[in-house]
Amino acid sequence: PYLLLVNGPNLNRLGVRKPDTYGRQTLSDIIALARNTAEPHGLAVVDFQSNHEGALIDFLQERGPGAAGIVINPGAFGHYSYALRDCLEDIDRPTIEVHISNVHKRESFRHHLVLSDVVIGQVVGLGTEGYRYAVEALCRRFKQSHD
Ligand code: DQA
Repeated sequence: PYLLLVNGPNLNRLGVRKPDTYGRQTLSDIIALARNTAEPHGLAVVDFQSNHEGALIDFLQERGPGAAGIVINPGAFGHYSYALRDCLEDIDRPTIEVHISNVHKRESFRHHLVLSDVVIGQVVGLGTEGYRYAVEALCRRFKQSHD
């Protein structure tokens, strides 16, 4: 069994890009954090990052249906990609959306999140630790469904 860890545009730049907003952890650090959190629960982590909307959708269509859950930071796509929203609705797996920064405290175009109604919940503004909480929550959910 595996979880998907999906990161959208510009998140390959974590650690370098706006460290005051996004912190100093790199994407590799986050992937390691997700693995370290999931593996003790018997779940592997399959990670994917892309700057391309269609590539994210192709990946989710391919690996989503078999996943125990999905952690996704859609980056700016979270504010306007109805295509990504429809994809998540279609594959219908338990999904948690993560935003490192508190998008609600930032520019108004970041206040709207179009994936809201197709995810279990959102972790917003808790920094890269947010990924850990999201992975932890999906692991618990997986465990409960297998008790
Ligand atoms: C982000 C917030 C988005 O508004 C922004 O476009 C990002 C990162 C976050 O993790 O805080 O790329 O998703």
